[in-house]
Amino acid sequence: MPYPETIQQQLEQVWRSPDMPVLDKLRKTQFVAHSIPLTADESTRPGEPLISQSPRTIAIHESLQRFMGPDLAGKTALDLGCLEGGLSFELRRAGLTVLGVEGRAENYERCLLIRHYYRALGGLEFAHSDVREFRPARTFDAVVCSGLLYHLDDPAAYIGELGRLTSPGGMLYLDTHVAPEDACLASSEYHAWLSGLKTGTAGGIAIRYREYSEDISLPESSIGNTYSVWMDLNSHLELMFDAGFNRIFELHGYFGAGEQELKQRYCRRYFVALKGTHPPMPQ
Ligand SMILES: C[S@@+](CC[C@H](N)C(=O)[O-])C[C@H]1O[C@@H](n2cnc3c(N)ncnc32)[C@H](O)[C@@H]1O
Repeated sequence: MPYPETIQQQLEQVWRSPDMPVLDKLRKTQFVAHSIPLTADESTRPGEPLISQSPRTIAIHESLQRFMGPDLAGKTALDLGCLEGGLSFELRRAGLTVLGVEGRAENYERCLLIRHYYRALGGLEFAHSDVREFRPARTFDAVVCSGLLYHLDDPAAYIGELGRLTSPGGMLYLDTHVAPEDACLASSEYHAWLSGLKTGTAGGIAIRYREYSEDISLPESSIGNTYSVWMDLNSHLELMFDAGFNRIFELHGYFGAGEQELKQRYCRRYFVALKGTHPPMPQ
């Protein structure tokens, strides 16, 4: 992925003359998932591929370029449930000004370390908050909701919030688990933790969902709620339309051979939703 030259130069400057006390602290800190570069040949998860090489980072970068144009400088991004800041860092690296929101204190601390280490770059901030209580008075050009929605107890209501957080003409990247249909349940990695399919309504919209038992001691799990809700595909789409996203794209092609089988096994889908950029279709 080509990064804006000025940002790449600033990163390389940090790598050439790192703040040694902060680098030493980062070296001693256990990162749980995001392999963020620290120097030209070191990262927060030694021996693992960098987060820049992960399929969803590539999917996000390509979607930003495709839907928001090649020059992302001055655009804003919100990274919800940002864990230890890897995707936030990658969004900043692509040129956007970024706010990551993380509800778990120990994860947030690692985000702050990354922010401090890359302070020369600017434009990378983090907030410690439960996303359900995070109500900024502003909106963002790009909202990244990756690995978060299915950890919430009321994801239907939260899709409405994603609509409010996204600027008109902006883009939502949603990477989430989707409840499998009964015919696919047995082949799902998660069948032992998922309830039967249930039905309900959310803001007048019919939804189908399964409940999922959460182990909240894990660093990547939900916060406070020991069960979460995985909605089916149609519920996600209808709720996104209702939240003001009027074009929705599902992403395929990033995971190589066996992609559909993998997605089915992990009940995973990747969407890009655009907010209010097109006139409504005639009825
Ligand atoms: C599965 S991880 C996904 C991390 C990252 N977004 C990614 O895609 O790699 C879920 C993250 O969301 C955070 N999280 C879960 N529920 C949250 C909530 N209600 N408010 C804020 N953060 C939350 C967790 O602490 C964890 O860092």
